[in-house]
Amino acid sequence: MDSAGLFVYGLAVAVALLLVIIYDRCRFSELDAIPAIGPSGALTSWLGAFRFIKHAPAMVQEGYQKHKGGMFRVPLIDRWVVVLTGPRLIEELRKVPEDELSFDHAMRDLLQVKYTFGIDAQEYPYHVQVTRNHLSRNLQVLFPDVCGEINHAFDAIMPSDQDGWAKVRIYPEIMKAMCRVSNRIFVGLPLCRSPEFEALQQQFALQVVLRATLVNFFPKFAHPIIGRLLTNTPSSIRRCMAILEPIVQGRLENIEQCKGEWNAQPNDMISWLIDVSDKEHRNLRSICLRILVLNFAALHTSAQSFTHALLNLATYPQYCTPLREEASAVINQDGWTKDAMKKLNKMDSFLKESQRFSGTTLFPMMRKAMRPFVFSDGTVIPSGTHVVVASSPMHLDEEYFEGASEFQPFRFSKRRQDDGEDPQFLLASTSPSYIPFGYGHHACPGRFFASSVMKAMMAYLVLNYDIKLEKEGERPPDEWFMMNCSPNRKAEVMFRRRRPT
Ligand code: HEM
Repeated sequence: MDSAGLFVYGLAVAVALLLVIIYDRCRFSELDAIPAIGPSGALTSWLGAFRFIKHAPAMVQEGYQKHKGGMFRVPLIDRWVVVLTGPRLIEELRKVPEDELSFDHAMRDLLQVKYTFGIDAQEYPYHVQVTRNHLSRNLQVLFPDVCGEINHAFDAIMPSDQDGWAKVRIYPEIMKAMCRVSNRIFVGLPLCRSPEFEALQQQFALQVVLRATLVNFFPKFAHPIIGRLLTNTPSSIRRCMAILEPIVQGRLENIEQCKGEWNAQPNDMISWLIDVSDKEHRNLRSICLRILVLNFAALHTSAQSFTHALLNLATYPQYCTPLREEASAVINQDGWTKDAMKKLNKMDSFLKESQRFSGTTLFPMMRKAMRPFVFSDGTVIPSGTHVVVASSPMHLDEEYFEGASEFQPFRFSKRRQDDGEDPQFLLASTSPSYIPFGYGHHACPGRFFASSVMKAMMAYLVLNYDIKLEKEGERPPDEWFMMNCSPNRKAEVMFRRRRPT
């Protein structure tokens, strides 16, 4: 074919693509009754979608201010999403069953589950059941292991020099520590310290988000091709299987030989997963996939939340002393136990305030309409539409948090004191006005584990280090990509080892 022919074919393909994309966007005209942020035409909305990539917080804030208590929509590259605002609608959302507004199907689209985890991980979510039940139930007995791993990880990662301040690029180090500490409970020693295992878990989690975002940039009809081209799941599972085979296979054989009566099973995530899996899923591949999925759910969320908190502490180093005094008093009395963590009221409040002030996502709750759904104000959500909840504007709203624009680390512990130890002010509690862990049936099942781990990590750091920023009060800016907010990945925090007293 000559170059003119090639040009004509290329042009025809480009025009066809454009028509499909415009058709795809026009489908969303059923949403016309819901106010849009930015231009709302089939073509012009693309401008808003590109703006959303870098300026999502400003667009959602604008929508919140104009439509507080109601809803609005913002354009993403592949779709409009409807954003709910305020506790009344969040409470209403909580009550809607999965077959009407579905968490699983929203995740299926957002994370392109078919090409990343595989649909089986959602259809048989026994890892969620294990997180909700076994992990929370066993936290008490396993907590000494968690604390031992925190000690070991920070010993390796943090500066040991006793004589001065040392700078640490904090995010990658916290990510390493979080990976080791979480996996101490997921896969145990010595694997939780294996650099190969650590790299696999961190890369897999990152790649899932990157690849799913890329697939979502293409029109729907292209997803099967692009999704299959981009997926790295089979190779990640193979790598994970190679690493975990001796452990998992050994346990499966022991169970088989003892006809289910093997009493010496180690108490960790692998054993719990084996325990609850049905015949079809009791195999190396399925267990490895669940370990990858759990690390995906646990690592970046926990590492980002904790890094935000550490940066907030370094920005306001005056709070090191009260946190240290509390940790010292409680741990001297109760040791590094789960019960001690329950008594760290100021620490709990500090971390909760940090999640309020520095969220990791604008939309912690996402659902997909499985059929047309009508909210109590009469707004119709057409089938296939994604409904999300705006967190940061509500978390920074004076109506729900007095002095909302200020970082007040002990606001929640004070409220507990004043209101008779009301549990709703605890870090792991959710409510319709506080949603970093979501709310309702799908609220994060790992939040009790995450809260205890973050408290123990922060207690370790304040007891062993003085902490500050190099330039007082200049917290490095957060990094936004669409609705996701990462603490600055290059941010550095100064640490000075404290002498034992
Ligand atoms: C600070 C750390 C964490 C944050 C901020 C966080 C946040 C969230 C949020 C917002 C959701 C969705 C809730 C909803 O839609 O209502 C969620 C779900 C989930 N999280 Fe977490 N999470 C954290 C740590 C963890 C950890 C440590 C684990 C596992 C050990 C975990 C496992 C899960 C799972 C399995 C789900 C899906 C629940 C379901 O399918 O119903 N998360 N998390």
